[in-house]
Amino acid sequence: MPDSILLTGGSGFIGSHIAVEVARAGHRPVVLDNLCNSKAGVIERLARIIGRPIDFVQGDIRDGAVVRKVIRDFGITRVIHLAGLKAVGESMSMPLAYYDNNVVGTLRLLEAMNDCGVRSIVFSSSCTVYGDPQRLPLTESHPLSSANPYGQTKLTIELMLRDLARSDDRWHICLLRYFNPVGAHESGLIGEDPNGIPNNLMPFVLKVAAGQFKELGVWGSDYPTPDGTGVRDYIHVVDLAVGHLRAMERLGDMRCEAINLGTGQGSSVLDVVKAFERVNAVRVPYTLKDRRPGDIAACWADPALALQRLGWKTERTLDDMCRDAWKWQLSSGGS
Ligand code: NAD
Ligand code: UFG
Repeated sequence: MPDSILLTGGSGFIGSHIAVEVARAGHRPVVLDNLCNSKAGVIERLARIIGRPIDFVQGDIRDGAVVRKVIRDFGITRVIHLAGLKAVGESMSMPLAYYDNNVVGTLRLLEAMNDCGVRSIVFSSSCTVYGDPQRLPLTESHPLSSANPYGQTKLTIELMLRDLARSDDRWHICLLRYFNPVGAHESGLIGEDPNGIPNNLMPFVLKVAAGQFKELGVWGSDYPTPDGTGVRDYIHVVDLAVGHLRAMERLGDMRCEAINLGTGQGSSVLDVVKAFERVNAVRVPYTLKDRRPGDIAACWADPALALQRLGWKTERTLDDMCRDAWKWQLSSGGS
């Protein structure tokens, strides 16, 4: 019997790739998304990749009645919870919207799950919960902090989930702390599709390579890193999606566990630009600029726990990330 898996935020960048892996593993993905940061067309493209229609409900996780109905109608047994707002800068100017959507939204989701007797959940957390790293690589035992409302919502949700697991041993919870997801599905049918001017590195690189922006601004070249530019642990979104599948499969053995999903390798901004130019034979003009306020110098994961607990490690390289992201840009124009 295939399991029905609820994917909140399942039409977004990461959720859509998880839907593919969940379906490939023989389960039935059910997407609940209010489309505040994704488009309904993703669902049709997912059906093309998967080879059959996919269940989609347009709705908000803050609407408990809708969540309960979806859980009951589709016989949901486990939840992968990705729905949330994620722009750090926006969270500084609209903190209440972030607490409402992310924290209240998760609270309503958990209440609905509890009412329906579904108590297994994988949650999208972030390496942002480690704040400014005191030591690298980052292990799950690193102290937690956050300098912005977006990160605070992730921390608050982690605390809420830990309290829940302590209160009732029927809950099975995995907190996946993602590093920097980039790339796209190899089909070129789904990928990251940010609204307006992209904030993050890879989406901006794509727009520069496509000629939509003249050049990339490299935010800071005087960090204490090998080439002076910021270093991050970029992870291919398909590897990340497979990590969710493994976490979902192992939920039965967990009470509440936090696990990093990263490669364990740091790459600088210039490493990404050079790899992108080489792999795709395109130019990405750039200018070195001042540091972006709030940025940290370097951040990468210790992924050992993921291997130990989930039997998972990344398989795709930075070159794969650059190639697949460019294929998505070319096939879709990024939309
Ligand atoms: P995304 O914006 O592409 O996807 C999120 C989806 O959630 C969107 O489709 C949006 O429409 C939906 N959504 C938002 N609020 C909702 C609500 N109240 N009800 C129903 N649907 C709602 O973002 P993503 O990059 O796919 O990120 C998915 C999750 O992973 C988020 O929780 C994000 O915070 C987390 N995360 C992302 C990154 C990253 O760099 N992309 C890193 C760490 C963690
Ligand atoms: N960068 C540039 N130019 C740009 C964009 C980014 O030089 O136009 C640099 C940044 O300064 C940083 C690196 O590229 O050194 C990566 O920046 P991103 O904005 O792509 O990613 P961040 O690590 O800053 O943050 C992202 C998400 C956060 C999340 C974090 C960890 O935006 O929400 O990854 O998952 F918490």
